[in-house]
Amino acid sequence: MKDWKFTQTDPAEIEDNLIRLIASDWMLLTAGTPDNFNTMTANWGGMGYLWNRNVVFVFVRPERYTYGFMENTPGFTLTFFDDRYRDALDLCGTKSGRDCDKVSEAGLTPLFSPDGYPAFAEARLVLECKKLYADPLREGGFIDTVPQRTHYGNNTGMHKLYIAEITAAWVK
Ligand SMILES: Cc1cc2nc3c(=O)[nH]c(=O)nc-3n(C[C@H](O)[C@H](O)[C@H](O)COP(=O)(O)O)c2cc1C
Repeated sequence: MKDWKFTQTDPAEIEDNLIRLIASDWMLLTAGTPDNFNTMTANWGGMGYLWNRNVVFVFVRPERYTYGFMENTPGFTLTFFDDRYRDALDLCGTKSGRDCDKVSEAGLTPLFSPDGYPAFAEARLVLECKKLYADPLREGGFIDTVPQRTHYGNNTGMHKLYIAEITAAWVK
């Protein structure tokens, strides 16, 4: 397995514009153990400050293979990449780990942090995140019903919201 070659940083020192980082650059959301993990592309979510902690919040549909890993492990990572890995992120956002080894198809090299969190050697930023709160979105919670009608129909489950503390941030 490849060595962990990242340097720890303070999450408050991340200089990227967070909306561009998540919405436009995309991220990989990865959960599981060295023996059994899965990753998927995500671009819905955010970072901020809640309960006096640095947090991320992400949204995962129950249909995703990644969902089971999110449910069954105490934490997950968000990894961010240069634009040259756009095709890799595209692949991880269109294929399911149920059907193929998408990490190797995407040309990514898995590696694990000292605390055992999954990441990729090609990432430029890794956030280790420990789950604090999780709950499915509810139809009755929508104040503007357009997003509800646009994104949730009869055959798609509501996303589950996960709020997680950033317990470590790593850069190259
Ligand atoms: C740019 C992009 C952003 C995505 N964002 C999310 C997201 O925030 N939440 C989600 O549940 N799925 C999102 N997806 C869809 C999953 O990445 C996709 O369904 C993936 O194939 C799931 O893989 P899995 O079945 O191995 O978990 C996104 C896909 C793309 C291409």
